[in-house]
Amino acid sequence: TKQKLWGGRFTGKTDPLMHEFNQSLRYDQRMYAADIAGSIAYAKALTLAGILTKVEENKIVQGLQAVRKEWEDGVFSIQPDDEDIHTANERRLSEIIGPLGGKLHTGRSRNDQVATDMRLWLLGEVKHVTEGLAGLIRVMVERADQEKDILMPGYTHLQRAQPIRWSHLLLSHAFSFHADLQRLQEIIPRISVLPLGCGALAGNPFVVDREFLRKELGFASIAENSLYGVGDRDFIVEFMMWASLAMTHISRMAEDLVIYSTAEFGFVTLSDAYSTGSSIMPQKKNPDSLELLRGKSGRVFGNMAGFLMTLKGLPSTYNKDLQEDKEPLFDALDTVSASFKIAEGVVASMEVHAEKMHAALTMDMLATDLADYLVRKGIPFRETHHISGRAVALAESRKCQLNELTLQDYQGLNDKFAADIHEVFDFEASVERRESIGGTSRKMVARQVEVLRKSLKTM
Ligand code: ARG
Repeated sequence: TKQKLWGGRFTGKTDPLMHEFNQSLRYDQRMYAADIAGSIAYAKALTLAGILTKVEENKIVQGLQAVRKEWEDGVFSIQPDDEDIHTANERRLSEIIGPLGGKLHTGRSRNDQVATDMRLWLLGEVKHVTEGLAGLIRVMVERADQEKDILMPGYTHLQRAQPIRWSHLLLSHAFSFHADLQRLQEIIPRISVLPLGCGALAGNPFVVDREFLRKELGFASIAENSLYGVGDRDFIVEFMMWASLAMTHISRMAEDLVIYSTAEFGFVTLSDAYSTGSSIMPQKKNPDSLELLRGKSGRVFGNMAGFLMTLKGLPSTYNKDLQEDKEPLFDALDTVSASFKIAEGVVASMEVHAEKMHAALTMDMLATDLADYLVRKGIPFRETHHISGRAVALAESRKCQLNELTLQDYQGLNDKFAADIHEVFDFEASVERRESIGGTSRKMVARQVEVLRKSLKTM
């Protein structure tokens, strides 16, 4: 009957629970295409090394293509002794082409094979993730471009601080995501390092041409040390660190929108498509999409931290602990991908209530502008800050707004106050004064839109 690929030195049977415990096929089968691509390249390298004839190579390559087709068509039949995607594909190859299939693994180990598969697979996924994130940013940028007229309170400490453009806030999150997009591109060179040809740990004794393998598989560089090649999983940690940070940004934006969607704020209304109801309270419309985005950031961070714990204290080269790299990575990747799509949908479809945002603006948010007014009349800011603070206190004691104090009131605080003080109490004017790069003026918001649009075109 069938035996395990490594069964030669064994006389005893694997414990059934151990068999389950050991097998990774149920989750690593998603790398089937990368595994086959690696094997096809390796077969070609074996021919160049004189191990296979061209005829043998062709048979192996055709066999591997047939195996790939079975996976694609969903008809690959998993056998009980298939341990992982590598043994499953090799077992099936030999069933299709016969004993010649047994030549493919010459000089190769699952150790350099799995590391190659993981890197190759991740490189492909990074492209999708890049597109997903760029899609989210694009929606935010277009929305920001269209809604530049809308003013809202800007907050620090979640206390009303200064008026800003709604677009300015949206773009602030877009810039965080834009940095994530750059960071993701920056980790690619460290993912794109070829382990194939490192063998089990010590290197390849058949002198396979690793430069050929690198080119065949599209890697940027070659692992220069075979122990490093089979034992390194830092690229997985790094991707999950990246994902954790990106999810932190998703979470912070989600939190803003959760708050803004409360009745107390009423700044935004999520579309029904991204909300759910309550099983008991008929009136409820909950921002579950945003809460899940916020919640899942913890999950991705957990994947990263968990796998880092797996790596800590491992001896050099390959250890089976490394099989634990897959589930956290796959889960992190699935979670960020879905999160970008959901966030994009939420942002694209939510309703923004300009009138509610405007109504939330209060004159005290212009206290800085009031201080700045006196600065322009030559008084040092530290003094004007104090004078403006006294105006705020006076208005508070009178239970009125800053613009309801009389000119005499103001002149009682400082004689530089004049009739033009009414110009201070204008939210639009306040926002427009922030016209240095990075400010919330219309022009500077438009500039941000252009900067992001331009950068997205190059990615
Ligand atoms: N399934 C294994 C993994 O994911 C493949 C490598 C197994 N290597 C070995 N020497 N047992 O890490």
